Amino acid sequence: MKWKATAIAALVLWVFTVAVLVLWNKKSDDAREKITLPEMGRAKVLSEMRGMLESLRDIEQAAKTNDYAAIAAAAHKSGTTFMVDDGPLMKIVPADMLRMGLSVHQGFDKIEQAALAKKPAAEIHKQVADILTTCTACHAQFRLH
Ligand code: HEC
Repeated sequence: MKWKATAIAALVLWVFTVAVLVLWNKKSDDAREKITLPEMGRAKVLSEMRGMLESLRDIEQAAKTNDYAAIAAAAHKSGTTFMVDDGPLMKIVPADMLRMGLSVHQGFDKIEQAALAKKPAAEIHKQVADILTTCTACHAQFRLH
């Protein structure tokens, strides 16, 4: 009966090894370019990201009632005047990433201008959709480490 125990042990070990390999491969499936930032810089960038998500939420909430002042204020918070402007950090970040980053902040500037000009909500939604396209393009290409 001893061989049976050995066979079961071998089988369990085999299943375990396969599971580990599958999980390992899954991890390395992430083909996005890894950008290594100093801890402080990483925290700054991620906080800016969360701020932009909040701006998008507030813009869409305010657009429900055509509250132009609130749309403009929410967009302003993520506009170019509030982007992370950290010399050393900007040198680490690849040009492609900087370009997309600048483009989303400019997108928020445009929403602010559209709201101040009381453009119809459909126009605001279109601009939000354009910004989201850039958010997701950058997320698909880069990750932070
Ligand atoms: C220039 C590139 C770039 C753009 C543009 C960009 N992001 Fe990000 N964002 C990143 C990277 C890189 C991460 C880290 C992802 C990772 O490591 O998996 C991130 C993370 C985040 C996170 C997670 C924050 C956390 O605390 O972990 C949120 C939320 C987010 N982004 C929202 C947005 C939104 C909303 C937009 C568009 C308005 C946007 N991002 C545009 C690059 C970008």
